[in-house]
Amino acid sequence: MSADPTPGGGAAISIKGVGKEYTTDAGPVRALTPTDLEIKPREFVVLLGPSGCGKTTLLRMLGGLIMPTEGTITIGDRLLYPEGDDRPSGEALGSLGFVFQQSTLMPWRKVWKNIALPLEGKGVGRKERRRRAEELAETMGLTDFLEHLPRALSGGMQQRVAIARALIHRPSILLMDEPFGALDAMTRDRMNSMLQQLWMDTGKTTVLVTHSISEAVFLADRVVLLSQRPGRIQDVVEIDFPRPRSLDIVKSPLFGEIVQHLRSQLGEI
Ligand SMILES: Nc1ncnc2c1ncn2[C@@H]1O[C@H](COP(=O)(O)OP(=O)(O)OP(=O)(O)O)[C@@H](O)[C@H]1O
Ligand SMILES: [Mg+2]
Repeated sequence: MSADPTPGGGAAISIKGVGKEYTTDAGPVRALTPTDLEIKPREFVVLLGPSGCGKTTLLRMLGGLIMPTEGTITIGDRLLYPEGDDRPSGEALGSLGFVFQQSTLMPWRKVWKNIALPLEGKGVGRKERRRRAEELAETMGLTDFLEHLPRALSGGMQQRVAIARALIHRPSILLMDEPFGALDAMTRDRMNSMLQQLWMDTGKTTVLVTHSISEAVFLADRVVLLSQRPGRIQDVVEIDFPRPRSLDIVKSPLFGEIVQHLRSQLGEI
């Protein structure tokens, strides 16, 4: 038998030797050491690590937002940064939805127009944009707020709008950078349950960045732990709890053990 002919080897995301060194006035800053990681279709991977270890850097490279200094990223069977090009592949970008660390909703646009924004200038008519925004608003529990401005929404609802916007072009991969970091603990728990359900219903390959160990263990199929800057993969932990996971699993001894293991790896004991 010949080797698998697809460049990504069947992975949804294939990361090979990907690293980043920023150029600054004070000299080069190495944010991420060359890193290898394969993410399977429909997998939920959480990147966990201390502040400044390069989580956002890695996620932004996966999202086509910053070029790696070295290495290759393959999305499905396409190179994200084709050799010799100074921009990412449009086809690969079409497979990616991105939710940012800070809210990036446009304050003067109604909720539905924020959700539909990525479709503008793509040849999708207003009626179809509205229809697709309504469809996603229903999934995200935002139907009653389509005509509101973002400031009329709670923080959790605003992040649901941001998730809907990331999904509007029907990507197969969802990349999320600390999407719930600014929310209170109770809202955050609710958002984690909502996200798990969304992931189970849609089967999107998901990569989520967080500082929170318990959020990581609750959500992930696999937790990828990054070391202090310059980040490198320090540990990979498979999380086998059956789904749907209830918020009560945090009380189980096994959950506690996994959290403790990750905490000691992070040097938080
Ligand atoms: N545009 C930039 N220019 C120079 N250095 C940068 C730039 N962006 C990030 N860095 C540096 O790279 C390192 C990694 O940053 P990054 O934002 O990826 O970390 P992070 O793990 O996401 O941190 P946090 O958990 O605080 O969000 C940090 O030391 C940061 O100062
Ligand atoms: Mg970050």
